Amino acid sequence: MENIKKIGVLTGGGDCPGLNAVIRAVTKAAINEYGMEVVGFKDGFKGMVENSYMPLDLKAVSGIGHTGGTILGSSNRDDPFNFLRVMDGQSTYSDESDRAIANMQNLGVEALVIIGGDGTLHIADHFYRKGIKVVAVPKTIDNDLSATDVTFGFHTAVDTASEALDRLHTTAESHHRVMILEVMGRYAGWISLYAGISGGADVILIPEIPYELDYVINKIYHRNEQNKHFSIIVVAEGALPAGGEMVVQRLVPTSHDPIRLGGIGNKLAQDIEDKSGIETRVTVLGHLQRGGSPIPFDRVLSSRYGVAAVFALMEGKFGYMVSLAGSNVVTVPIIDAIKELRGVDLNGDLVRTARALGIGFGDR
Ligand code: F6P
Repeated sequence: MENIKKIGVLTGGGDCPGLNAVIRAVTKAAINEYGMEVVGFKDGFKGMVENSYMPLDLKAVSGIGHTGGTILGSSNRDDPFNFLRVMDGQSTYSDESDRAIANMQNLGVEALVIIGGDGTLHIADHFYRKGIKVVAVPKTIDNDLSATDVTFGFHTAVDTASEALDRLHTTAESHHRVMILEVMGRYAGWISLYAGISGGADVILIPEIPYELDYVINKIYHRNEQNKHFSIIVVAEGALPAGGEMVVQRLVPTSHDPIRLGGIGNKLAQDIEDKSGIETRVTVLGHLQRGGSPIPFDRVLSSRYGVAAVFALMEGKFGYMVSLAGSNVVTVPIIDAIKELRGVDLNGDLVRTARALGIGFGDR
């Protein structure tokens, strides 16, 4: 058992429902189980570099388990190993990781719980390789980290998207329209797939299965023949036509992954109307998927992850991430979670289930 007296916690990358529940669980477990002190670095790694932090005690984390966002703030652009400063309009990058470590050590912080997705966990791994005692917690609505069955926040995003599909159903039916819902997920189709199955979509488009427009339109025609004069399509922001490309909305050069996807919903609507004349409308769900309270599943998962992260630190499992394997929370090397993004398994039971329900993927 390690003898750690003070730990730091930070939330990096895009925010996601359940962050506060993890912060609360880390703080409570550290104090209740081990009598430790806890410090929260503000705005992700920026807080470590700029020595911006807040003490976390039981009072500070009281009543936040069900809330959205993060009381610590987050950032998806601040990498201490390649830290951006803008002075007089000039951008410079420098390695500020030693400064971040010095700040941490001056505070007496001996170990870190780092909560984040792909980009944040790459940085967590770099700190671990520099000798810092790190345990990571897998966060992202995209659910695209390897080595865990699920990231916290994902199921809340699915809940939001699924409710949106329920609402789109009624208006689609009233107006005999095609309704397209564009959801997030970066290069993975998890949100689209889960929400589409849950929300009774007729077509689900995901990056892992490039689609043919004709197959999508045929599905709509087929439904018309069955006297169903409306169709619901859920499209992942990373979905793309066969032989085509993903639609990029903007570039954020300072981010670990500078590409921001978005716009495929409007492109698809235009293509459907041009080719078939069927009236089509688009809803882009956007950051609604990241905001708001976590659903109970995510509150419980975040609590389990937060507590497990503290236990992992005390067990000396540095360089590890807590992870869900079946119904158990386990630990896996951080590197296993980030070596490749986890996309939808095309031969898995979810895709099979969707196909058996009659949902089209635009590929046949
Ligand atoms: O990774 C989470 C996520 O919400 C993605 O689904 C989306 O592509 C991206 O972040 C949006 O990033 P930003 O908040 O920088 O627009």
